[in-house]
Amino acid sequence: MRSMSSAENTTLFIKANACTKAQQLKETLELKELPDDLLHDNLFWLDCITPKKTDLNCLAICSLQQGPVFIDFLAGKKAHRRQFGGGMGQPLVRAMGKIDNRLPRIVDATAGMGSDSFVLASLGFDVTLLERSPYVSALLADALQRALETAGLDSQTLAIFQRMHLHNTDSADFIANCPDKIEVVYMDPMYPEKKKKAAAKKEMQLLQHIIGPDMDSERLLNEALKKASYRVVVKRPKGAPVIANQFNIAPTSAVSSPNTRYDIYSIDALKQKLSICNKRQAIKSFNLACLHSRSIIVSINNLDKHPYWK
Ligand SMILES: C[S@@+](CC[C@H](N)C(=O)[O-])C[C@H]1O[C@@H](n2cnc3c(N)ncnc32)[C@H](O)[C@@H]1O
Repeated sequence: MRSMSSAENTTLFIKANACTKAQQLKETLELKELPDDLLHDNLFWLDCITPKKTDLNCLAICSLQQGPVFIDFLAGKKAHRRQFGGGMGQPLVRAMGKIDNRLPRIVDATAGMGSDSFVLASLGFDVTLLERSPYVSALLADALQRALETAGLDSQTLAIFQRMHLHNTDSADFIANCPDKIEVVYMDPMYPEKKKKAAAKKEMQLLQHIIGPDMDSERLLNEALKKASYRVVVKRPKGAPVIANQFNIAPTSAVSSPNTRYDIYSIDALKQKLSICNKRQAIKSFNLACLHSRSIIVSINNLDKHPYWK
């Protein structure tokens, strides 16, 4: 079932003569059959395409308006970014930090088209990709499988894909119920499209069409702040407000690039800030405050729910 947290609920169709890969997903993705003569601009369907000069069979979301969108980690923009993206010095990577000189394990809670996860995995990070849209997740699974099955891949490149672990799930639920330690949660939610903004890239346009803005990022951030042991990193457009959270925690630092800001919530820094006051003091002031003000009672109650009150 499609998640109800995203704004749009676009149906994905399948044509009678669709490729085998798409046919195999027909039931799981609840694809509706589409006669060829019904095609129009706002329809999306699942099929395979073979990019020029290749013999690949890539699962793609197709539309008349945008053409096919598929994921290929070994060619095009993703491969270019791997080679020329700036390595360990790029803002995304710096935002992840290091634990005792080793790379932390990342949970990418908004995997999308996998670009950020791929950058991280290609630089040595172990990345768990979480994507709740079954459509987008199917494209990711297809791209990962194709990459792993590519003949003659060198061992270094193969290792990148072995470090990428995909789950089609809602991240807030996954994180809340995860029995294992999570070091870093990374979030890059879809934000509402601005009318005046230059047209988004083709991949993002597709996500905007079939998924719409993510309206529940606050819930995801709440769970991430409760669970992450090292840091939470949130990608935001430059100038955008921070994402709210139930604890009223502000980012402890940020890494900026020309169009993007990575808000960092360092768990150690947050714990240090909070250790300035201890629970005893809070209870003392709570008793006093009870006598005077109802609003203080509310704020003390909130403090008690704080994830770092230990
Ligand atoms: C802006 S895109 C992320 C792009 C990604 N960083 C990349 O490099 O391709 C946001 C994606 O996060 C997914 N998403 C948002 N909230 C989620 C949640 N709570 N659980 C799982 N996926 C989520 C959306 O379905 C969408 O595909």
